[in-house]
Amino acid sequence: MSTTGKSASSHTDGEQKLWGGRFDENTDAFVEAFTASVLFDQRMYKQDIAGSKAHATMLSKVGVLSQEDVNLIHGGLDKIERSIEAGEFEWSVAREDVHMNIEAALTQHIGDAGKRLHTGRSRNDQVATDIRLYLRMVCDQAAAELQRLMEGLLSLAQRNASTIMPGFTHLQTAQPVTFGHHLMAWFEMLLRDLDRLSDTRKRLNQMPLGAAALAGTSYPIDRNISKDILGFDGVCENSLDAVSDRDFAIEFCSCTAICLMHLSRMSEELVLWTSAQFNFIELPDRFCTGSSIMPQKKNPDVPELVRGKSGRTFGNLISLLTLMKGQPLAYNKDNQEDKEPLFDSADTLLGCLRAFADMVPAINANTDAMRDAAAKGFSTATDLADYLVGKGLAFRDAHEVVGLAVRHGVENNLDLAEMDLTTLQSFSEIIGDDVFDVLTLEGSVTSRNHVGGTAPAQVEAAIERARIRMQAVYIS
Ligand code: ARG
Repeated sequence: MSTTGKSASSHTDGEQKLWGGRFDENTDAFVEAFTASVLFDQRMYKQDIAGSKAHATMLSKVGVLSQEDVNLIHGGLDKIERSIEAGEFEWSVAREDVHMNIEAALTQHIGDAGKRLHTGRSRNDQVATDIRLYLRMVCDQAAAELQRLMEGLLSLAQRNASTIMPGFTHLQTAQPVTFGHHLMAWFEMLLRDLDRLSDTRKRLNQMPLGAAALAGTSYPIDRNISKDILGFDGVCENSLDAVSDRDFAIEFCSCTAICLMHLSRMSEELVLWTSAQFNFIELPDRFCTGSSIMPQKKNPDVPELVRGKSGRTFGNLISLLTLMKGQPLAYNKDNQEDKEPLFDSADTLLGCLRAFADMVPAINANTDAMRDAAAKGFSTATDLADYLVGKGLAFRDAHEVVGLAVRHGVENNLDLAEMDLTTLQSFSEIIGDDVFDVLTLEGSVTSRNHVGGTAPAQVEAAIERARIRMQAVYIS
């Protein structure tokens, strides 16, 4: 699974556990591997090190650690970070998780000062802090990719503000719309996704550190010092809540699931539109693959995969909700199971957004095919009804008249705009030759000229507003 990190050895077998004091026998080898999280939580090493450095600095400021110890701790942690980044750090399953791997390595490097780092802290507040820091980074990265995708959409919408295509309900031709208008519907979905992400970030940016195991600590800590160093907006108010709840992770998975649901809907349309039957758009070759047997094929793999990947993000959300729902306060080992679904959602979101952000600006609209499709299927029937209403007919009567005209069209393979005036007048004598203004595709879209309507002028104006609106949404 994608969340698995670098392999870990058990070279530290036989080493005294950091918590080994009260135990008589060694951990069962299977249990050791079963309870370890280092294979997947090592990806939080940067956040773990930043948290430890902030904690050590705070402890020295309140007089619990000497400056000398802090200097050693910072130096040692920096070295460990470099060795992890160089791929030289030996992760050990026997050391269970990222926290104890780094702490044990620190003590190996710098001796007794390393043993003092964990003063006034527990892995419970440590891990809760690490996850929040990690997720904060992921939110910022996802927001940047979303914004890139949204900008791509705006430029594609700009190029197609007056490109006409059929609009659908029930996947049946309904009324003509502009392609730009359709793309701006996608933009609105993504803007709400960005807003949700911003909201999630705001709520997760509170610091658990200081809650220790569950009840706080008897050392004279000053949580504001570490909070400021780590860039949190505040500290978690209640120690029991701080170490136990993962609602912020659930929120993130929820935002991800909703965003992937949107990307999946867009994918579905892209897949339909690239088919020979629709032929509305072309995707550049670099986003498609061929078939090993059918030489003519150019498959829209990227949107298909995004549509498929939405499923795992829905599953991850359900996993975390279920993980959380039965837990009594405060920390329980169940919470170790939060990481794989969470990281999988993070990876999936970032990957899908990146693929979309790269692909969307490169979409090529087959404007003739779109227009031809809109011209079929009686897409201006509502316009004819509205025209009759304008001439004094009640809407229900107008609906009936147009229904008869459409039936005539179906039987004779004629669109409304292709019928001559005498034919049209045989359905209602109030029809005049000005009717052809509303039966054209351009006439139809241009007449929907209000905020939220499909008229090209409205699409242009919506794009202008969108550029401003998207700047204000995500606050990091
Ligand atoms: N690896 C653990 C986790 O992910 C860290 C916290 C362990 N705390 C404990 N009390 N065993 O949740």
